[in-house]
Amino acid sequence: MRDSQDTPGGIHPLLAGRFSPYQFDPSARVDDQALGLLLEAARWAPSAGNSQPWGFFLGRPGEPDHDRLLSHLAPSSARWAADAGLLVVTLTRRHVDATPLLYSEFADYDLGQAVAHLTVQAQALGLATHQFRAFDLEGLTKDLDPNPGWAIVSMVAVGKAVGEPREGRGRRSAAHLRSAPWAPAE
Ligand SMILES: Cc1cc2nc3c(=O)[nH]c(=O)nc-3n(C[C@H](O)[C@H](O)[C@H](O)COP(=O)(O)O)c2cc1C
Repeated sequence: MRDSQDTPGGIHPLLAGRFSPYQFDPSARVDDQALGLLLEAARWAPSAGNSQPWGFFLGRPGEPDHDRLLSHLAPSSARWAADAGLLVVTLTRRHVDATPLLYSEFADYDLGQAVAHLTVQAQALGLATHQFRAFDLEGLTKDLDPNPGWAIVSMVAVGKAVGEPREGRGRRSAAHLRSAPWAPAE
């Protein structure tokens, strides 16, 4: 299996141009209109049984909730996420009330799709996103105290990217994806 360092060819520029920046412009704001469109994009993601098992907690610089979120960042993410114009905590509802339909099986999958929608909408607005797990999950969970059945999954920094994509973000080839990488070795 070889990783490809090629620039993505032929796919939509919003997808080809996306990368997770390690530097954000601290002076670039995410205004209410942009924020509304990011959530609107997430809202229209597909989900199992249209269960929409997602929720977001938001903070922008200058808002009390931003300070709250900053206090839970790991040193590795604080270096760049603190300068982003918006921090998003993503939550999923893995458990459902007694029902014959078990939506919870797909809760994380559905949340991921909603976040993917958000990242593409961000690109369309000239914003970049960096999803991350480098935060104190236990501390943040204690702080936000989500309702039973809800779980924090990740965070997303959104803002104006500074600089170019880092080296080492190559991808497995498309041929590899269809070469049954999941099958047991003969
Ligand atoms: C669920 C998830 C968790 C991630 N956690 C981190 C993280 O803790 N720190 C970090 O620097 N990047 C994190 N990333 C970003 C990935 O490292 C990045 O998406 C990957 O290297 C591919 O690079 P690209 O997004 O620029 O294409 C995470 C991404 C996802 C989707």
